[in-house]
Amino acid sequence: MKKRVAVLISGRGSNLQALLDAEQNAYEVALVVSNIPNAAGLDRAREAGVEAIALDHKRYGQNREAFERDLDALLVQRNIEIVALAGFMRVLTPYFVRAWQGRLLNIHPSLLPKLPGTKTHERALAAGESEHGCTVHLVVDEVDAGEILGQARMPILPGDTPQTLAERVLTLEHELYPRCLAEYAQTL
Ligand code: GRF
Repeated sequence: MKKRVAVLISGRGSNLQALLDAEQNAYEVALVVSNIPNAAGLDRAREAGVEAIALDHKRYGQNREAFERDLDALLVQRNIEIVALAGFMRVLTPYFVRAWQGRLLNIHPSLLPKLPGTKTHERALAAGESEHGCTVHLVVDEVDAGEILGQARMPILPGDTPQTLAERVLTLEHELYPRCLAEYAQTL
């Protein structure tokens, strides 16, 4: 049986597109949720015939758990088995992370445990790193710190800028995420 996956996004959704394009036997993208109502990724989902829902976090003010309770209820109602974060720009609280423990994946644009957090391409250059890449990992309470499911790496070249690194890492992300998600879905 294909595992029913929800993809959570906040923006353009190029990783969502890769997950949609690569769907095979292991999983199906059954739902896409964005916390930003006009995220371009919602249209990608609709074009692929996948239910796409905006859940605007601003409507919940400072109450992160109330947002997450509604999100969780939606996921449960749609019989979602795995949640894949793909450019989802909200840090999730322990409430949600624990509810989905072992079934919550993220993609991060660095070779974790190096460079958790934001601006990874700038920081890879500033640190004089010779290689860079991306990581698919399970989500735990600590940001960007869960079990690593897969990584893709590439050399940093003379003349690279944050922009050129971002472009090349994104290409790696689009290959890595569907592969890791499919492999992981088969283990559940
Ligand atoms: C990707 O670089 C991902 O690693 C990071 O946010 C970006 C999302 O891009 N977490 P997209 O929305 O999938 O195009």
